[in-house]
Amino acid sequence: MSCLEIKGGRKLHGEVEIHGAKNSVLPLLAATFLCDGQSVLYNCPELSDVKASLEILKGLGSSYIREGDTVIITSGESKICEIPDVLMREMRSSIVFMGAVAAKCGSVTLSLPGGCELGPRPIDLHIDALKRLGASFEANKGKITCSFPDGIKASDIHLKFPSVGATENAIFTAVMGRGTTVIYNAAREPEIADVCAFLNKAGASILGGGTDTVVINGVKSLHGVEHKVMPDRIIAATCMFALGACGGKISLRNIIFEHLQPMVNILKDSGCDVQNLDDSIVLSSNFRLSNFDTVTTQPYPGFPTDAGPLLVAMSSVTKGTGVFIENIFDSRFRYIDELKRLGADIKTVGKVAIVTGIPKLRGAKVHSCDLRGGAALTVAALSAEGTSVVTNVEYIDRGYQRIEDIFGALNADIKRRWS
Ligand code: UD1
Repeated sequence: MSCLEIKGGRKLHGEVEIHGAKNSVLPLLAATFLCDGQSVLYNCPELSDVKASLEILKGLGSSYIREGDTVIITSGESKICEIPDVLMREMRSSIVFMGAVAAKCGSVTLSLPGGCELGPRPIDLHIDALKRLGASFEANKGKITCSFPDGIKASDIHLKFPSVGATENAIFTAVMGRGTTVIYNAAREPEIADVCAFLNKAGASILGGGTDTVVINGVKSLHGVEHKVMPDRIIAATCMFALGACGGKISLRNIIFEHLQPMVNILKDSGCDVQNLDDSIVLSSNFRLSNFDTVTTQPYPGFPTDAGPLLVAMSSVTKGTGVFIENIFDSRFRYIDELKRLGADIKTVGKVAIVTGIPKLRGAKVHSCDLRGGAALTVAALSAEGTSVVTNVEYIDRGYQRIEDIFGALNADIKRRWS
């Protein structure tokens, strides 16, 4: 077990390079299973969720080597079509392997992802989409088998909600099917466009990846390719809202400005200076920022649910009252009780959090209950007076490559301790 010891109250200064996106690299790793031969992923962050995905690939008969931030994966014919329970449980997003393995092997057996730290994780949209492509499902003792008795048949898929994972699973399956599949109301997250770019290089024919209508012409096989993982917009958002809470001047390299627009809009409205220079962004603030009026989380291009806890952490110390509405996940407010230990003034009613900024939080011991909640506590602790200890850093390690190094490079006094 490890914790972060943070001596807060320092302004942030310096420059940091944003690493590859977790939400892109996890489906990309699943996509490498579809490709025969060697795939190379550059800018691949060292995250515990990436490690878990690589172990799933190994269990499926693929092999991998990591050299710094480059990971080389070799996949071929696989006769293993079961993902062990222990690996499924390690990472809730492992469900994205369902489409890839079933498409390549004809069937897959895996345990149901079940609940997670953000509440129940239904997979009805994944199942509905794959059924449209000819899948049949059998459930037995907590395990589910997805198979294509008559092969993968192209079809029109209308998603009831633009689920990121269901869109990815549908793409992974349709890409190996016969004929043309059209996914309507697809998720538009930029990570999906990144995965489609990888698949197209590998020999797929996908149009409209990253838009609400994706057209996939099935192909017989895919081959290994080289691909650079896109930058992580939520890591950038974490640094941006930390700057908003602490003040100072920071530069973030390797960003895609367009992906940061909802965060940039809020920070600019609050009084923060934001400059975009090619693939970097410079933010500075020398006085206490103002709070937003109302922010609601939405599928892309709206304000991302994953950045919500980070915004709430910042708004705990900005001037005025902000209303934050979490529209995507049901159980995303557990970090708020922990923010209150640092002195934050936040009231919650259902999916609404009303945040009244106070001039200064004070250091305390706080517990991470999930990935972004843990990162939000880190942001709040960076701005708090005195020393804070953030426990359960293992959650944060799922999505941040050594968060202490990211903020250490930005002048924060932050150290990891093991107990
Ligand atoms: C992905 C991201 C996650 C982000 C989320 C929303 C990855 C690895 N993870 O997760 O960081 O927070 O998108 O942007 O990319 N739902 C159903 N039935 C389903 C599937 C989803 O009801 O079959 C619901 C979920 O419970 C949730 C909402 O739809 O309330 C969004 O889920 P989804 O877009 O599928 O998120 P993930 O792909 O799991």
